[in-house]
Amino acid sequence: MMKWRTVSLLFMIFLLSICSFHGLVLAHDLPQEEPDMMRLELIHRHSPQLIGTVHGGPWPFKTRLERVKELVERDIVRHRVTISHKRSGQGRLSTRRKDSETSAEMPMSSGADYGTGQYFVQVKVGKPARAFLLIADAGSELTWVNCRYGCGSKNCNTHKGRLRNHRRVYLADRSSSFETIPCLSKMCKIELMNLFSLARCPTPSTPCAYDYSYLDGSAALGFFANDTITVGLTNGRKMMLENVLIGCTESTRGQGFKGADGVLGLGYGKHSFARKAAGKFGDKFSYCLVDHLSPKNISNQLIFGTNRNKHSLTRNIQHTKLLLNAIPPFYAVNILGISIGGVMLRIPTEVWDASLGGGTILDSGSSLTLLAEPAYNPVMTALQMSVSTYERLDLKPFEYCFKSTGFNESLVPRLVFHFTDGARFEPPVKSYIIDVAPESKCLGFVSVIWPSTSIIGNIMQQNNLWEFDLVRGTVGFAPSSCTCT
Ligand SMILES: *[C@@H]1O[C@H](CO)[C@@H](O)[C@H](O)[C@H]1NC(C)=O
Ligand SMILES: *[C@@H]1O[C@H](CO)[C@@H](O)[C@H](O)[C@H]1NC(C)=O
Ligand SMILES: *[C@@H]1O[C@H](CO)[C@@H](O)[C@H](O)[C@H]1NC(C)=O
Repeated sequence: MMKWRTVSLLFMIFLLSICSFHGLVLAHDLPQEEPDMMRLELIHRHSPQLIGTVHGGPWPFKTRLERVKELVERDIVRHRVTISHKRSGQGRLSTRRKDSETSAEMPMSSGADYGTGQYFVQVKVGKPARAFLLIADAGSELTWVNCRYGCGSKNCNTHKGRLRNHRRVYLADRSSSFETIPCLSKMCKIELMNLFSLARCPTPSTPCAYDYSYLDGSAALGFFANDTITVGLTNGRKMMLENVLIGCTESTRGQGFKGADGVLGLGYGKHSFARKAAGKFGDKFSYCLVDHLSPKNISNQLIFGTNRNKHSLTRNIQHTKLLLNAIPPFYAVNILGISIGGVMLRIPTEVWDASLGGGTILDSGSSLTLLAEPAYNPVMTALQMSVSTYERLDLKPFEYCFKSTGFNESLVPRLVFHFTDGARFEPPVKSYIIDVAPESKCLGFVSVIWPSTSIIGNIMQQNNLWEFDLVRGTVGFAPSSCTCT
């Protein structure tokens, strides 16, 4: 008896370690597995799995501080583009079409399509299916891959389906399910205007072209098509999503997509992959992000369907309304305020109101939490008071850092986001007083000039399960270790 217990305990430990390192494996072993759930692994930009493919600079980073700095720089660029998008509003479409008249101030594209998310996902495209590594972007609607079409037997300047910089190329001629969207179609002329379709249409059957230009100078040029995306289900089977809108990107400019074969659109929009995939699985998707500042090698999961892990958390799960049309294609939420140590901070209500230039989005593509100044200042003041006994450090780009020798987390007053419908999100302290170097911690907020959208980034979201219900228009969240127990 004892012996059997020891064995099964060891087996459990074995399973748990498989679970931690290869999230996909455990699923096959569970008899009660729900077959109607699809799971993709989210790979962080700084993951050892992506060594040499994603980062152009020195790799691995010499220090954690360098990694964190890089994240902050990306956040700032991403936010700048997001805000430009929002300010220009509907105007961006006509701006786009005027081309040469576009003033320097008007954004060339939306932050919505910036494609600079922090996580990568592997998906399979076409029939037969070919695997590609895409940037998972909660701020994008369009999914696109580096692609060649109409080459026949020519190799289209690719060597065995790779570009010179080792990125993979989708050879669309070889896919039996690849079908271009004609430029004369209503879909091209009206629906895809949101996704920067071009008016150019030399013949009725010419594929509907797009030209995304990004604020940082990056661009993706190609044309729209429908194709099949194949995904793995948690029961080990595969499922094909037919007629997914895919951009066949023939050329890119700039550095925005370094290391990736394209972008997976996880934003909310009629043509986004998230919407299409969620539609097959009860209109729900969820993710759980582990602490990526820790050196652990645990995979993050993006799940379409009802998250099995959720059941054990149901007691703690809270729900709040998603404002799906407030700052499209982002997932916006309605915040009432922030309290620290049980005291509600004095923050003007406009800060949380998307119709008045504020508002808040949940963005897995940003790392830190970016707060509009009228919210940032009181939050920083309150937190600084609680750590003022520690020696202050100067670690740019952070405003406030300190020497954390002897730091006791449980003595820090807790920060809580309060939603207008009563839900409360209480992140762990390490999500806002973050480790940036040995013995050094910083307050993990970035200030953005008012008026602007505030962003709850992925570090703040870590160690929580987030489940988006696109039909009910809610997001549920609960604390979780994000391992598959
Ligand atoms: C592409 O797929 C959509 C459904 O997602 C469908 O409405 C449309 O007719 C398809 N177009 C072509 C050209 O296959
Ligand atoms: C990290 O995980 C990947 C698979 O998820 C594995 O291939 C790799 O060997 C792991 N690295 C370490 C250091 O455990
Ligand atoms: C942190 O403070 C709490 C409350 O005073 C105390 O119970 C705990 O032992 C302290 N932890 C450490 C590591 O000092």
